[in-house]
Amino acid sequence: MKNNHITDTIKYVGTDDREIDLFESQYIVPNGVSYNSYVILDEKTAVMDGVDERAEEAWFRNLEQVLDGKLPDYLVVSHMEPDHAGNIQKFMEKYPQAQIVVNAKSLSMLSQFFTLDMSARSVVVKEGDELALGSHVLTFIMAPMVHWPEVMVSYEKTEKILFSADAFGKFGALDTEEDWTCEARRYYFNIVGKYGMQVQALLKKAAALDIQKICPLHGPVLTENLDFYLGKYQLWSSYEPEDQGILIAYATIHGNTGKAANKLAELLRAKGVEKVVVSDLAREDMAEVIEDAFRYDRMVLAAATYDAGVFPCMESFLARLKSKNYQKRTVGIIENGSWAPMAGKVMRESLSQMKEITIQEPVVSIKSTMNAASEEQLELLAQALVR
Ligand code: FEO
Repeated sequence: MKNNHITDTIKYVGTDDREIDLFESQYIVPNGVSYNSYVILDEKTAVMDGVDERAEEAWFRNLEQVLDGKLPDYLVVSHMEPDHAGNIQKFMEKYPQAQIVVNAKSLSMLSQFFTLDMSARSVVVKEGDELALGSHVLTFIMAPMVHWPEVMVSYEKTEKILFSADAFGKFGALDTEEDWTCEARRYYFNIVGKYGMQVQALLKKAAALDIQKICPLHGPVLTENLDFYLGKYQLWSSYEPEDQGILIAYATIHGNTGKAANKLAELLRAKGVEKVVVSDLAREDMAEVIEDAFRYDRMVLAAATYDAGVFPCMESFLARLKSKNYQKRTVGIIENGSWAPMAGKVMRESLSQMKEITIQEPVVSIKSTMNAASEEQLELLAQALVR
């Protein structure tokens, strides 16, 4: 971040990481990611979270520049995930006068990650506790499972800033010019999506606060139109669809199931469905497909049979949907099998383990390649999916 100004007394000291191959070893981040960290300068100086070990050097450099010879009094730890907590021990060794501000759960995790005994230098806080820094006062609010169990956010009441931990974060380094919603949505559903109820609990607490700025741990500081961002989180965490549209996710071996998926898309478009997204699960970023599954109100799964089950990338997609709490949607099924089609049965069974899923009949069954009978079934499915 070229300009580290959040307010006159709050500075950004985080870093961009454009070298990382996979965030959390599973998410591609074409525009990198930022690890956000902030300093509140007052009679007491507080550092709000750290950064990944990968960015250690840049963080300490940024810190020294902003501290300008002052010594930090506190390191406030919102949660213990290493993308923010990786340098805690190095910080506490470098600044031996500093205290670490944690809740009891984080305190118990410190010794799991670090060898330095920090218990005597810990300020242990709980829901509603305040920490006065001078004119700034931090209030701690517990936000368990958004997205680790020990997460807490901090509200600074003088400048009305919410330090929101991972909530309201997005993929993408801060020097990326891109829309917030797309990469924030991909981040949300893949990283926090399972915990909609806990996000709702946090939003309820946030609703009682006068918030002028949101400082998350990834992505830009949000300073304007906060109702937009709060509204998106309200919607996403309720698992309600964001847009009318149909995702067709397919798993094809030799291309025939893919042809059926594209044929269905063609039929739907011809019937006036404006938003139809077709995704090849073997080749596209599955995190993006998960995002689309939650974004739209309807989905069709098309898969080949494989080893008396379903082709592996579909199996993996279904497992992810279940683990992210996919629910409240209408889903169509297209199966393919050359001798003993099983994919439809397996997909239906997986979907039956998710909440409030309506299977849209008819299930289309293809033997190897589309023929007149299966094209007729596709037509019936398309008709049934149109609203
Ligand atoms: Fe960005 Fe839960 O760490």
